[in-house]
Amino acid sequence: MTRIHELSQHVGQEVVLQGWLVNKRSSGKIAFLQVRDGSGVVQAVASRADLSPAAWEDAQRVTQESTIRLVGTVQEDKRAPSGVEIHATDFAVESLTEDFPITKKEHGTGFLMEHRHLWLRSSRQQAALRVRGEISQAIHDFHYERDFVHIDSPILTPAACEGTSTLFETDYFGEPAYLSQSGQLYLEPAAAVFGKVYCFGPTFRAEKSKTRRHLMEFWMVEPEVAFMEFAGLCELAQDFVVYLVGRVLDRCADSLKILERDTAILENVTTPFPRISYSEGVEILQKAGQEITWGDDFGAEDETILAARFDRPVMVTHYPSAMKAFYMEPDPENPDLALALDVLAPEGYGEIIGGSQRIHDHDLLLRRIQEHELPIEAFQWYLDVRKYGTFPHSGFGMGLERFVAWVCGLKHLRETIPYPRMLYRIYP
Ligand code: 4AD
Ligand code: MG
Repeated sequence: MTRIHELSQHVGQEVVLQGWLVNKRSSGKIAFLQVRDGSGVVQAVASRADLSPAAWEDAQRVTQESTIRLVGTVQEDKRAPSGVEIHATDFAVESLTEDFPITKKEHGTGFLMEHRHLWLRSSRQQAALRVRGEISQAIHDFHYERDFVHIDSPILTPAACEGTSTLFETDYFGEPAYLSQSGQLYLEPAAAVFGKVYCFGPTFRAEKSKTRRHLMEFWMVEPEVAFMEFAGLCELAQDFVVYLVGRVLDRCADSLKILERDTAILENVTTPFPRISYSEGVEILQKAGQEITWGDDFGAEDETILAARFDRPVMVTHYPSAMKAFYMEPDPENPDLALALDVLAPEGYGEIIGGSQRIHDHDLLLRRIQEHELPIEAFQWYLDVRKYGTFPHSGFGMGLERFVAWVCGLKHLRETIPYPRMLYRIYP
């Protein structure tokens, strides 16, 4: 069997293909069959004269998304997207599909989401998932090339990392447990083991608001580095974004084309990224007429306005401690501010990265846990990192789906993950 994306290496040869029918045009003597096998799409020309009566019969009765097996010769065809065409010498329907629900006509989003398992077969969905796959691989490569050790953080946890309001609670043999919101707390002890670590896995947030930027289940990559302080964190974050974007431009040109992504803005993503402080951000927004006062969190619209002022991702730093997580190191020059970093993507995609330097002083961290009214017992182990050989350290988290949405130019996160978990939707 040959894969469609390899066909150009087999010009003049006979090949066997297995796959599914995308589309068909047919007359009494000749049929043009668009076939896909997951690696690409190719047109097969089946003419009555070249086929057995049974094969010709199958070329006539084949329907969209039927499973097919095809034998034919590869011919060069400069006009075809794949550069080749197949002249069929044998053709068989292996499994006939009746009434495939997703056709060429326009379908509503609700309908497509109900049929997500079948919608995935369409070319745009394939392209988005291919880019996602490339980015996942690049995430591992980036860290591997820089001597990070990959650590798996647990999914079932006894405590909250990012606030108690978005926890999914479950029953752990009579004890409450929560689906992980972030692997960070488990990475920090691992940073004391290996120095440079990262985790990359599913995370869960019961976000009660219905937006195009939020999923209940999303994948987050989180690096954590011992002895790295805030300046180093900002460097790492921008190098990471540049690496991932470059990788997609290098290897996913076909998918970006299918997605009709304008790549000019992606090609512009080089270091250094512009930087503004939270306070500067508030000033910019006030001048732009937004209703915001110092101490408020940025809303989606605020992030869009801020990011629109720059031609590449922007780093926003030094947020008020009061609006950020309990573990963030205070700014030595103004302890009301946290050494926090958010990276906002251009074109209205909002926050793609959130991170900070971590508090490494035991007593300060203990105070913060108490101020946030978090259960001390559940955090004893986390405090241990500050008790036994503490060290400054920093890290961030990047949401894979937000990043994929931006790179692909997709409006909604639901198309960046095979099976999105959204407010009130858990089927299929
Ligand atoms: O800013 P967040 O909440 O940061 C943390 O969880 C830290 N513990 C990470 C760390 O420092 N190790 O989330 C990080 C990123 C966001 O910037 C965003 O890209 C993504 O996770 N994210 C979501 N993506 C999709 N749906 C949601 N509901 C998301 N919530 C956060
Ligand atoms: Mg955040």
